Amino acid sequence: MKKEPIIKIENLKKSFGKNEVLNGFSMELYKGEHLVIMGKSGSGKSVMIKCLVGLMQPDSGVIEIMGKDIAYLNQIDLDDLRTEIGFLFQGSALYDSMTVRENLEFPLRKKPEKFKLKDRLVQEALENVGLLEAIDLMPVELSGGMKRRVALARALILQPKIIIYDEPTTGLDPITAKEIIELMRNIQQKYGTSALIITHDVDCARVISNRMILLIDGIDYAKGTFKELEASKDYKIKEFFK
Ligand SMILES: Nc1ncnc2c1ncn2[C@@H]1O[C@H](COP(=O)(O)OP(=O)(O)O)[C@@H](O)[C@H]1O
Ligand SMILES: [Mg+2]
Repeated sequence: MKKEPIIKIENLKKSFGKNEVLNGFSMELYKGEHLVIMGKSGSGKSVMIKCLVGLMQPDSGVIEIMGKDIAYLNQIDLDDLRTEIGFLFQGSALYDSMTVRENLEFPLRKKPEKFKLKDRLVQEALENVGLLEAIDLMPVELSGGMKRRVALARALILQPKIIIYDEPTTGLDPITAKEIIELMRNIQQKYGTSALIITHDVDCARVISNRMILLIDGIDYAKGTFKELEASKDYKIKEFFK
């Protein structure tokens, strides 16, 4: 019997005017796996993620999350499904006017039964990223790496089944980037979370991926393990591993 994917995208298409960004992209994410999607800047990675979490409407295609076709969900069910997905936005996207603690409490507002436990959950989430001492600081007081850690803690606070990382290491120096990758690995080992990692960082892909998809020309141009893709003779694939 074939394993059911936790996320399934079939033939996703999205254009902006004449700009055909996604042109039939398909993918499957299985339970417990770390799937890396690599694509050049502007190739449609963020557009794909926005369609996936319902922030953008695709022109056509099917998106199923945990067996549910999101096109047929009402707002309440969609919001409910979204609480199963942790999202690390490109560039951290913390609320600048809130402390670290308030940033972390924010997603808990959607879940009253979790909100009651907020002190413990915030503490645990910050411990997971080694930043408990920053709990009362404002985002402006944090370094880029610390901001990314807080954003990661926020993505994890509802103990989601799926985490989506949009360019988790972009904009960080190499050492800080390595620390973030290490944290992502720890989280996978501790919670067995499934993750979709969007990146153009080859080192990140090498360390973190169980499997990869290359998003090229708006489609899932190539799929395989890092080693398989790295050994490819296709010039469009080789470009990524230079
Ligand atoms: N809301 C939008 N309106 C018009 N064009 C958009 C919009 N969002 C993204 N695009 C275009 O879609 C393409 C892919 O963008 P994006 O998914 O952000 O790329 P990346 O792979 O770097 O994440 C780009 O050409 C971008 O200009
Ligand atoms: Mg992007």
